[in-house]
Amino acid sequence: MGNAHAGTPSVSVIVPTYKEALNLPVLIERVEAVRDSGHLDLEMLIMDDDSRDGTEEAVASMNRDWVRLIVRTSDRGLSAAVLDGFRQARHEIFLVMDADLSHPPETIPEMLHRLCSGADFVLGSRYVKGGSTEEAWGFLRWINSKVATLLARPFTRLKDPMSGFFAFHRSLLDNAPPMNPVGYKIGLEVLVKCNCRNAVEIPIYFHQRFRGESKLSLREQLLYLEHLRRLAEYKYGDWARFMEFSFVGFSGTFVNLAVLTLLVWLGMPVRAAVAVAIFSAMFTNFLLNRQFTFSYARDRHWAGQLLGFVGASSLGALVNYIVTLSVLHYWPFTERFPQIAALFGIVAGLASNYLLSRYIVFKKPAPADYPASRERN
Ligand code: GDD
Ligand code: MN
Repeated sequence: MGNAHAGTPSVSVIVPTYKEALNLPVLIERVEAVRDSGHLDLEMLIMDDDSRDGTEEAVASMNRDWVRLIVRTSDRGLSAAVLDGFRQARHEIFLVMDADLSHPPETIPEMLHRLCSGADFVLGSRYVKGGSTEEAWGFLRWINSKVATLLARPFTRLKDPMSGFFAFHRSLLDNAPPMNPVGYKIGLEVLVKCNCRNAVEIPIYFHQRFRGESKLSLREQLLYLEHLRRLAEYKYGDWARFMEFSFVGFSGTFVNLAVLTLLVWLGMPVRAAVAVAIFSAMFTNFLLNRQFTFSYARDRHWAGQLLGFVGASSLGALVNYIVTLSVLHYWPFTERFPQIAALFGIVAGLASNYLLSRYIVFKKPAPADYPASRERN
């Protein structure tokens, strides 16, 4: 260390790894070439989840004093490893990249240059002009990546927010809220939570991984949906919650119809089947809302919440009915199109349902609910 030229920032390269022993020597050599030719004050942190595939031996045999191997035995996962890297990094700029040589180390100087000329977040991107992926990408992986990218649209205008190749000044984390390492899109997490104002993308050629195989399973992709949900709640607060509530309500329509169909097919009288279908939908709505929309209230007892939710839903139905009749009354022309009146009723019912659920059935515990503050009176 200490060989930095004036004006060149110091950089910590953070590399999450799991079973990448075959790639690490090549990665280290290529990063070293960049380090030497740019006279960079650069350290590399290999955040390994106890791979036991020869990673430790491979790094030790390279014997570079600017490379640190950190073997993690708890709190596994790509994002957790990267966050851990942020905590242990010593230098001014944090740069995250994969170990499998999909991300070209030769792009590092350009990323640093951008960070020193006004950008607060630099992303190595496959989807800007000049960027690309190796041909061997199958159609499935391609479409998968496109859909995932599209889903991130509400959070960022960047073209490749899925990329795991990014860099920023460490100070960006200073005022950031706690990071949540769910899923593997840690770049997106930083981008959204740090409120980046001047994020730039630079094109990269995304190579097929050099050796070994990909670690990203279907499970990780499902976690991505959970990640998006949390980012939505973070960024849009109660509006996101209302959207979730509406989605859940929408899903209830299908439950209702499916149960009705099944019961009638099984021979139950229609009137009874309709009633059971309605309660089934209420019940799945309750479960989904408790699990997702109002997950903060999950630690309280479910039975009371279920009763409250059924009550709120029934009241919602009443509001729906009253509003529909009122619209029909005050705007007589809707008599010819009762559907219009019904739409008003549905929206009013949904709103009342949401407000009752949010502020009464699943209300956030007030500070006074905590035993500690009871002692005051
Ligand atoms: N510490 C740790 N723990 N590292 C992990 C884990 C884990 O559980 N799982 C994966 N990694 C490391 C891998 O060793 C590799 O260095 C990097 O994270 C990316 O994993 P790959 O298995 O190579 O994933 P990929 O090629 O499918 O994903 C790449 O493309 C995505 C966009 O399509 C990565 O760049 C992702 O970051 C990127 O989002
Ligand atoms: Mn890879």
